[in-house]
Amino acid sequence: MKVTTSTAPVLLVFLATISHSVICSTFGNDTDRLSLLEFKNAVILDPQKSLISWNESTHFCRWEGVSCSSKNPPRVTAIDLSNRGLVGLISPSLGNLTFLRNLSLATNRFTGQIPESLGHLRRLQSLYLSNNSLQGIIPSELAALREMQILDIGGNRFSGGFSLFTWDQLSGSFPSGIANLTNLIVFGLDDNLFTGSVPQWLGGQKTLQILSLSNNNFTGYIPSSLSNLSHLIELYLHSNQFIGNIPPSFGTFQFPGTITTSYNNLHGSLPNEIFRIPTINQVEFAFNNLNGELPTEVGNLESLKLLNLSHNMLSGSIPVSLGDLELLQELDLAFNNLSGKVPTKGIFKNLTAVQIDGNLGLCGGALELRLPKCPIKTSNKNKHKLSVLLKVVIPLASMATVVIVAKPISLPSFGSEFPKVSYKDLARATNRFSTANLIVAIKVFCLETMGAQKSFIAECNALRNVRHRNLVPILTACLSIDSSGNLCYISLAQRLSIAVDVSDALEYLHHSHQGTVIHCDLKPSNILLDGNMTAHVGDFGLARLRTDSTSVGNSDSTTSVAINGTIGYVAPECAVGGQVSTASDVYSFGVILLEIFIRRRPTDEMFKDGLSIAMYTEMNIPDKILQIIDPQLVQELGLSQEDLVTADENAARCLLSVMSIGLCCTKSAPSDRISMQEVSAKLHAVKDSYLRWY
Ligand SMILES: *[C@@H]1O[C@H](CO)[C@@H](O)[C@H](O)[C@H]1NC(C)=O
Ligand SMILES: *[C@@H]1O[C@H](CO)[C@@H](O)[C@H](O)[C@H]1NC(C)=O
Ligand SMILES: *[C@@H]1O[C@H](CO)[C@@H](O)[C@H](O)[C@H]1NC(C)=O
Ligand SMILES: *[C@@H]1O[C@H](CO)[C@@H](O)[C@H](O)[C@H]1NC(C)=O
Ligand SMILES: *[C@@H]1O[C@H](CO)[C@@H](O)[C@H](O)[C@H]1NC(C)=O
Ligand SMILES: *[C@@H]1O[C@H](CO)[C@@H](O)[C@H](O)[C@H]1NC(C)=O
Ligand SMILES: *[C@@H]1O[C@H](CO)[C@@H](O)[C@H](O)[C@H]1NC(C)=O
Ligand SMILES: *[C@@H]1O[C@H](CO)[C@@H](O)[C@H](O)[C@H]1NC(C)=O
Ligand SMILES: *[C@@H]1O[C@H](CO)[C@@H](O)[C@H](O)[C@H]1NC(C)=O
Ligand SMILES: *[C@@H]1O[C@H](CO)[C@@H](O)[C@H](O)[C@H]1NC(C)=O
Ligand SMILES: *[C@@H]1O[C@H](CO)[C@@H](O)[C@H](O)[C@H]1NC(C)=O
Ligand SMILES: *[C@@H]1O[C@H](CO)[C@@H](O)[C@H](O)[C@H]1NC(C)=O
Repeated sequence: MKVTTSTAPVLLVFLATISHSVICSTFGNDTDRLSLLEFKNAVILDPQKSLISWNESTHFCRWEGVSCSSKNPPRVTAIDLSNRGLVGLISPSLGNLTFLRNLSLATNRFTGQIPESLGHLRRLQSLYLSNNSLQGIIPSELAALREMQILDIGGNRFSGGFSLFTWDQLSGSFPSGIANLTNLIVFGLDDNLFTGSVPQWLGGQKTLQILSLSNNNFTGYIPSSLSNLSHLIELYLHSNQFIGNIPPSFGTFQFPGTITTSYNNLHGSLPNEIFRIPTINQVEFAFNNLNGELPTEVGNLESLKLLNLSHNMLSGSIPVSLGDLELLQELDLAFNNLSGKVPTKGIFKNLTAVQIDGNLGLCGGALELRLPKCPIKTSNKNKHKLSVLLKVVIPLASMATVVIVAKPISLPSFGSEFPKVSYKDLARATNRFSTANLIVAIKVFCLETMGAQKSFIAECNALRNVRHRNLVPILTACLSIDSSGNLCYISLAQRLSIAVDVSDALEYLHHSHQGTVIHCDLKPSNILLDGNMTAHVGDFGLARLRTDSTSVGNSDSTTSVAINGTIGYVAPECAVGGQVSTASDVYSFGVILLEIFIRRRPTDEMFKDGLSIAMYTEMNIPDKILQIIDPQLVQELGLSQEDLVTADENAARCLLSVMSIGLCCTKSAPSDRISMQEVSAKLHAVKDSYLRWY
């Protein structure tokens, strides 16, 4: 009895415990279940039926992609629904799954914003939202996720549908809340549209091992503090707008040691420290403006697999020691200024693994490379490498002459006889017609029997695609302002266009960031017109770089008549042997500008006894201006020579402006002349305001 009476409550308690645990294990924590269902509701498309098991007949811990703790009641600790093709919004209800440690929704098509409520998931260690179509900023609430180790929100740029609009992408400035995540190991922000600078404090996230900021729009300097990341394994910074140096302090990378900075605007010399990191594995610095030489230490990097330094301005020779690296699989040094002997050992035997195109001073190497033989050592070991302007004049069966001017020059073994220059050679000599650091002018004179030399024409056609605004097209016609003679089938608008085109070209020559080039022989016959009456400046026969100049090559062409510039167009300081400067080109341009509108050559017989075309203009401006302008133009515009007041005011104003620009250019003292930048700006303004009326 005692036994029975005493066992009854125990049994009840027992049963109660069982039933409670049954309820709990059936329904678990209801908050979790309801939150998951809300998440499912916000998914509008589930092509793989991944969420079909998410129904009332199954416990949520057995729903696809859901993992629970083994505790009682069981709680959701992980959701992995990556790569399921899900379309929809990410429901804020996920923020109620407070036991969640791992959440992956990567590679789906989730849109909308990252819910702020995720900031409640204090236990979260990994969050993968990469490769979706999320938009907006990263919510600052995520700063509360102190346990976070992996935060990957890359690739929310153009996935799931192309978008031109920043509001359809993850964007904004660098998320400052990251500073609070002191356990971060992986941080992926790549392939989004983040802007602004990368903060120095990022170097304080000491636990970081993988940092990917590539393919955004970050600007400013690469923070030097990143060198404090002593556990760093992979650093991706490529395809942004970074400027400045690659911080020389970088020097601690763990294996496998990857660093990429390709496609930025980085300057300065190679950070040699990086080539002293024994664990470095992959280095990609392509498409920047890096200079300096490759250190011989590179040969000590026994784990190096890929080295890509293409499209920079590296000089010096290729260290022979690179051929000793047994793990090296790809070496891209193309399009630099490397010179000297190409090694033949190791990777240099595998020509699919080595890229060295576009380095004009290179010689030797494997036969298949078809590089010139290295010169037998002479006292002047750089004989084959000329760093001056090159002019190649090639008479082609007395039918055509091609003038090529390239900077810097680099045809190896450039001898005294005429070199045979093929399209390939040209491509090589001009860095594949790079517009960034070359000036190429190609001019074909008087092709009497066009088509006679088929291969030549074919090459011309290939070259025709070489475009550099108003500077470098190839022209197969002989039409120039000069030879066209009669500027009278040209209206005011077209004349203005020619002036603007030429000023643009000169502005580029004078003020490009690559250095200053002075044309020195600007005259109408060097201004070529194409079929659309677009003007191009050609024939850099006398051109020189600000730095140094030596005339190379043969000059028996038409350019040789003008060794000291051309009478009438040459600035007064040049005629008396003074210093040649950009102002000298400005002077010549001014003369041409006046000539275009007055239609009288500066050598016209009326300009003698000290009267120049500039003085003539000066004397007649402003009230008698229509008396000196090309009569045909005046007539065409319906302007009265006598009466400026009733004339087409806009056309008259335009003419006055242009003539005064011409006068500003032709001041006798070089220092009084305006710069090509100003000229170009003013002419654009005149043209725009004139065209606005018609
Ligand atoms: C479920 O969990 C939430 C938050 O942890 C808690 O507030 C709630 O009481 C739990 N519900 C049950 C039925 O255990
Ligand atoms: C509920 O989920 C189970 C799998 O767990 C599935 O077999 C069943 O078809 C689902 N029921 C409905 C109505 O979708
Ligand atoms: C989950 O959280 C949201 C707010 O983020 C709230 O509106 C909702 O009611 C919660 N759902 C459950 C099932 O607790
Ligand atoms: C959750 O993420 C952490 C950190 O990345 C990882 O160590 C752990 O294995 C993950 N757990 C699950 C269940 O995926
Ligand atoms: C991104 O998702 C698309 C499908 O939506 C897939 O084809 C692609 O491989 C994914 N990319 C990555 C890096 O996972
Ligand atoms: C982030 O850290 C700062 C400074 O320690 C603190 O003031 C701030 O409250 C933190 N933010 C969150 C969301 O925890
Ligand atoms: C990087 O480390 C140096 C030296 O340890 C320290 O002075 C500097 O403050 C650190 N910078 C950051 C951003 O952590
Ligand atoms: C990226 O930056 C460049 C240069 O600052 C700017 O011209 C461009 O508009 C930016 N792109 C976007 C999408 O913000
Ligand atoms: C080097 O980098 C550039 C830019 O990313 C790329 O186009 C080129 O293919 C790379 N070369 C090799 C060998 O990977
Ligand atoms: C040559 O290099 C290429 C590219 O790295 C590689 O695929 C190939 O296996 C190499 N061939 C030999 C014979 O090593
Ligand atoms: C003239 O302009 C048109 C349109 O811009 C272009 O397609 C054509 O190639 C140009 N012709 C010449 C000879 O440059
Ligand atoms: C100009 O010509 C004279 C004589 O023809 C020559 O002595 C002088 O060197 C030339 N000047 C330049 C800069 O070529």
